[in-house]
Amino acid sequence: MRQPMVAGNWKLNGSQSSIKSLIDDICSGASELSEVAIMVCPPYVYLPLVADLLQDSSITLGAQNVSEHSSGAFTGEVAAGMLKDVGCAYTLIGHSERRAIYGEQDAVLAHKFVAAQKAGLTPVLCVGETLAEREAGQTESVVQTQLDAVLKIAGVQSFNQAIIAYEPVWAIGTGQTATPEQAQAVHQFIREHITQLDTAVAQKVRILYGGSVKADNAAELFAMPDIDGGLIGGASLKAQDFLAICRAGHESARAT
Ligand code: PGA
Repeated sequence: MRQPMVAGNWKLNGSQSSIKSLIDDICSGASELSEVAIMVCPPYVYLPLVADLLQDSSITLGAQNVSEHSSGAFTGEVAAGMLKDVGCAYTLIGHSERRAIYGEQDAVLAHKFVAAQKAGLTPVLCVGETLAEREAGQTESVVQTQLDAVLKIAGVQSFNQAIIAYEPVWAIGTGQTATPEQAQAVHQFIREHITQLDTAVAQKVRILYGGSVKADNAAELFAMPDIDGGLIGGASLKAQDFLAICRAGHESARAT
């Protein structure tokens, strides 16, 4: 049985004081949501602060990005070992904003995935198609190419210690969520693709959905058989909205 996870991707938002009160509010509401794994991904500079604030909580910490290098002359980069050192358990890899705005391509993302695992972090590999790709009927081939880049370098067994996030680019920050059926179809495709390589890994790997998940659509998304929780952007910045989504994850676990 896969335990649902709800992860908050705070992107480029927050300050020490706003983050303290956000974490405070999330922690007080999350204590009763025992069936869902909760994770937050603050901007790099706030990771030690959040690690400290989460010390007595079961909420885990993730980074939004990681270097493919472990050390050296790479100005501006942050290594996986450093993230581990300050208390991260996870890191996002290949969020569509990294792919589209910063030009991160499949090959480098595969190396980031390997670097994260090597340092003991669990990578959350983000995949998803643009609207043009969906309209051209390329959703499955795009997602498969993004997955295969990592599978080729890291191998299918590496997904025993990884999470996949399906995030259709057209649904991110737009208010336009994929329907539960649209999302389920792609999640099922991803799981079947991995099944062809290893059934046990495919059954184990969590596949999160991301893209305009809100309190009022989370429950029906999380009820789908291959959707194991969500990666939440905008709604993760408001404690009550995020907690309502976490509650949907908690309830979905109890329903199965
Ligand atoms: P959104 O972002 O929830 O604001 O659509 C999701 C994401 O980018 O991970």
